[in-house]
Amino acid sequence: MRIDKLLSNMGYGSRKEVKDLLKKGNVRCDDKVVKSPQTHIDPEKSVISVFGEIVEYKEVVYLMMNKPPGYVSATEDQRDLTVVDLLEPEDAVLNPFPVGRLDKDTEGLLLITNDGKLAHQLLSPKKHVGKTYYATIEGRVTEEDIKAFQKGVTLDDDYVTQPANLNILSRGELSEIELTITEGKYHQVKRMFESVGKRVTYLKRLSMGSLMLDPDLQTGEYRELTDQELAYLQNEHIKKN
Ligand code: URA
Repeated sequence: MRIDKLLSNMGYGSRKEVKDLLKKGNVRCDDKVVKSPQTHIDPEKSVISVFGEIVEYKEVVYLMMNKPPGYVSATEDQRDLTVVDLLEPEDAVLNPFPVGRLDKDTEGLLLITNDGKLAHQLLSPKKHVGKTYYATIEGRVTEEDIKAFQKGVTLDDDYVTQPANLNILSRGELSEIELTITEGKYHQVKRMFESVGKRVTYLKRLSMGSLMLDPDLQTGEYRELTDQELAYLQNEHIKKN
């Protein structure tokens, strides 16, 4: 495996940042300075260090999926097919899991990884990572709804939601909206609209923090994150603190 890919995967920055670390002589492989980003190393056999600190290697996988309806966001299910069933065997072998849940009928951006630390950072309510959804709503969405969501609405279990940003794209019998929330309560978007007397008829997640759904991915398709997408996501919690 190339040393720049390994270090980038382990959270040392984008390929460009890692190249810089290497160029400055801050990376060692078995105690020898490595400067070339193309150097191939076997992380199981060699000891890699950055600024003298040993890099704990773990094989990681980061996948962006455009979740299709009809699949549950889990690794196993007694009744339904799961998003992991859509993975090729070579991607499933590292036991990745979906980061957060989309309902069975919800489509769109789902991050699937075996990096528990990153998953935790993205899901922790303290980090306020924004998730943006596109939805169609039965009924006319109004300015009052924008204000109510901004203030926080009371859900059916008396939970009061954090401020959320509602953007109306079109109004009518069926309205189109985009909504950004920073939490992930069960059925949150659907229940927020229920609280103002409206019903979500279609729901798709467009983004999670800096990660945006690739418009070239058809529903059911997935791809690896680019180095840049991963580096931005790994910095997400730093940005928020
Ligand atoms: N809110 C919902 O109601 N459903 C989802 O799948 C995600 C957010």
